[in-house]
Amino acid sequence: MGKILNFGSLNIDMVYSMPHFVQPGETIAANKMELFPGGKGLNQSVALSKTGAEVYHGGKIGSDGMWLLDILKNSGVNCDFVSADGSATGTAVIQVSPSGENCIIINHGSNYEITKEEIDRALGNFGEGDMLLLQNEINLLPYLIESAHKRGMRIALNPSPVDDELLKMDLSGLDYIILNEIEGEAFTGEKEPEKISAALAAKYPGLKVVLTLGGKGSMYTENGKVIRQGIYKVKAVDTTAAGDSFTGYFLALISAGKSAEEALRSAAKAAALAVSKMGAAASIPTMAEVEAAELEELR
Ligand code: RIB
Repeated sequence: MGKILNFGSLNIDMVYSMPHFVQPGETIAANKMELFPGGKGLNQSVALSKTGAEVYHGGKIGSDGMWLLDILKNSGVNCDFVSADGSATGTAVIQVSPSGENCIIINHGSNYEITKEEIDRALGNFGEGDMLLLQNEINLLPYLIESAHKRGMRIALNPSPVDDELLKMDLSGLDYIILNEIEGEAFTGEKEPEKISAALAAKYPGLKVVLTLGGKGSMYTENGKVIRQGIYKVKAVDTTAAGDSFTGYFLALISAGKSAEEALRSAAKAAALAVSKMGAAASIPTMAEVEAAELEELR
């Protein structure tokens, strides 16, 4: 089993429990506000590590974010490649509605201060058999992809949040892409899941595509072979980090040599359990919890 380097964002999440999402021109009081560790990068490292994988996080925080490192380390993530000399740690303002839906504003902060030297230093410890995981909340993604590809690493991208720069990027070095339907449509112009996966595979031959379909589950496509997975039924408390739990679990199990079917099943269960709790990283279940969970699958 190879090592996994997740080069990604670390955020301080300010989570506001709202009676409803704020409307233009409206001022309303939150029911409560809580601080949580977050960032798609941090959340996915926690999820990877909770499966028992050997996980290294690369990224940058400011002095206000040292507690995020404690969270990662306590989850078993190696933080040797996280620099703590950034200007100010990234932040996210998250509104959570009574039905558990969210809307998120992020401020990149130190997540966009990563240097090529820091990337070279981290990647120097990885090679063939290892995996690099990326999201779209840090700078220098093209350099990371190119450098990891040269080293023979497998590369996975969760292109969230999607933006114009990412849509123009050459993604031919990727082995896996994990994205939702909206992101899939932004990349391909297609709306139907089958067409999105086919268009991505046509543009990037050999790319394995994992498409998450909200209430309809997920769909994995590899060389024209399609595997479908349903969702598991839970009472939604906070959907934040459901996608991050899914991504971390799926890739860690693939990296451990499990089949795509098995990886999808555990990923779907981990996402469901994350939805049933408040917070991002704080809501990600352990492998033991995922294995013990008896949940009804909906397709
Ligand atoms: O995917 C959820 C994450 O998105 C939050 O933790 C927030 O920090 C944003 O990056």
